[in-house]
Amino acid sequence: MHTVVTDDPTEAAEFIKKGGTCAFPTETVYGLGANAFDTMAIAKIFEAKRRPTDNPLIAHIFDANQIGELASEITPSARKLIDAFFPGPLTIVLPKTPAVPMIATVGLATIGIRMPGFPLAHQFLELCGVPVVAPSANISGRPSPTTWQAVFDDLNDRIDCILQGESTEIGLESTVVDCTGSVPILLRAGAISLEELRHVVPDAIPYVGSGAGPARSPGLKHRHYSPRAKVQLVDHGIAVNGGNANAFIGLGAAPGSFAITRICSSVDDYARSVFAFFRECDAKNIELIYCETVPEAGIGAALMDRLKRASAE
Ligand code: TXA
Ligand code: MG
Repeated sequence: MHTVVTDDPTEAAEFIKKGGTCAFPTETVYGLGANAFDTMAIAKIFEAKRRPTDNPLIAHIFDANQIGELASEITPSARKLIDAFFPGPLTIVLPKTPAVPMIATVGLATIGIRMPGFPLAHQFLELCGVPVVAPSANISGRPSPTTWQAVFDDLNDRIDCILQGESTEIGLESTVVDCTGSVPILLRAGAISLEELRHVVPDAIPYVGSGAGPARSPGLKHRHYSPRAKVQLVDHGIAVNGGNANAFIGLGAAPGSFAITRICSSVDDYARSVFAFFRECDAKNIELIYCETVPEAGIGAALMDRLKRASAE
């Protein structure tokens, strides 16, 4: 199929209305959208991404009134988090309504809901007029796309449309919080940290996989965020092997000489840059990427989460 690339949100929204797939920018990463109530359209997302069919999708909205179409109940913790952080880089998981097709949630009785804050995303979703389910717009397992070109590299000729925007501001995926139980559970670290969540819902706890039973967030068990190159974490100041098949990303001075070196000006800059850096390394056939560790506070916790997953065998 031919992929239309456009900067016109009206043209892009037409593809969603017609039952197609369209990638669009948000403040976190680019998403690959389809009408949340259209089973056939959602099936196209799984096919285009080669996404495992046990990994549920997040529904994106532009107006809080749409939550009622998706969730059968807004729990007290969800209400507080919505008031504090919507629109923004937060996804809340709630019990779903029967209107949400099973394919969107891969059979789960719950649905993830997020209201992006990025103006072009808001405009696009408003023009679509329906909730739009969207995973990150990459081939499954690859780093999430932070530019429209990264979406194009992975999904050209596999999706109907790409809505062009700037590179994404945050660069890591949203914070995901399960609000279905009495205690909110942080399922995926993101730009909104556990400390910030606790200002609003003090009893929020991080998810700790038990190993037994079904995973709370099925996506957590899949290989994620990975370049083809091997990723190795290094603490600041540790000397490592340079060389023309190795790369380095971190803060401060590089601990050697590398084929590609990226020194970030802050942890925010590091988070914003890391996925594009992974893709650049793949394009240049880098074999080993050294990633400097950062303190696990604020966005640093989300960045370390992604780096650890990328470095896992
Ligand atoms: O920032 C983001 O969240 C981006 C943009 C496009 O919004 N989207 C994104 O989607 O990262 P995706 O599909 O790549 O990651 C969604 C994560 C997965 O780990 C998935 O398992 C989890 O959210 N998730 C989705 N629905 C869930 C549910 N009902 N219960 C538990 N976890 C859920
Ligand atoms: Mg993803």
